[in-house]
Amino acid sequence: MEVVILDDAEQVGRVGADVIAEHVAAKPAAVLGLATGSSPVHVYRELGARVQRGELSLAQCRGFLLDEYVGLPAGHPESYRTVIDREFVDAVDIDPANVHGPDGHGDDLKAAGPAYEQLIADAGGIDVQLLGVGTEGHIAFNEPGSSLASRTRLKSLTLRTRQDNARFFDGDVEAVPQHCLTMGVGTILAGRHLVLIAMGEAKAQVVRELVEGQVSARWPVTALQLHQHVTVLLDGAAASRL
Ligand code: GLP
Repeated sequence: MEVVILDDAEQVGRVGADVIAEHVAAKPAAVLGLATGSSPVHVYRELGARVQRGELSLAQCRGFLLDEYVGLPAGHPESYRTVIDREFVDAVDIDPANVHGPDGHGDDLKAAGPAYEQLIADAGGIDVQLLGVGTEGHIAFNEPGSSLASRTRLKSLTLRTRQDNARFFDGDVEAVPQHCLTMGVGTILAGRHLVLIAMGEAKAQVVRELVEGQVSARWPVTALQLHQHVTVLLDGAAASRL
């Protein structure tokens, strides 16, 4: 695990974009794993700037979302597909038809997980996976207690996650969906290169567990210790308890 401590969010954005750009230079049709949340936003912004300047093209890439709420209408501003379109797809030159998320609108939500796994496998697997982390250790929507071997599946969200995410729903926890479709920890570990971003004092404890703690489903992010190629990008505050 490579841990890189950076000065600020802009620098995190630049170094994260460098990692993606290296993959795309080696494989123009790279398969990108896309995270929502505030952590990867600066990476997306920097990628957008490089594409605008003609320094980078993601035109041949494919993208897969980590997770999605169940129960929000298509086009809802907080649906993760809408968020990724707004923050990433619209900023770069990737073909929107080549960006996929778990389908939370079908009749058979249990079948959506295996179908998504198949779509990822058909694309050749994920080359580089961006990740954020929740303060209690969740990656994607794999909250504490999630199996470290889990795959994409329908699951319920804990009250804590819904409370954390209520900030995106005008502070109304009742408006946050109760269910989601999420890549599993096992799905994430199958990515070839994992890039986790954490910033701010609120992430200091979970970063400590990630880097120095024991591998445990109590802190799902610690599963990254089992992976051969992980880059952790931190600001000073997130690294303050290492
Ligand atoms: C959400 C997402 C996670 C994300 C987490 C942290 O719950 N499902 O994928 O990592 O929030 O978000 P942030 O980066 O805003 O701290």
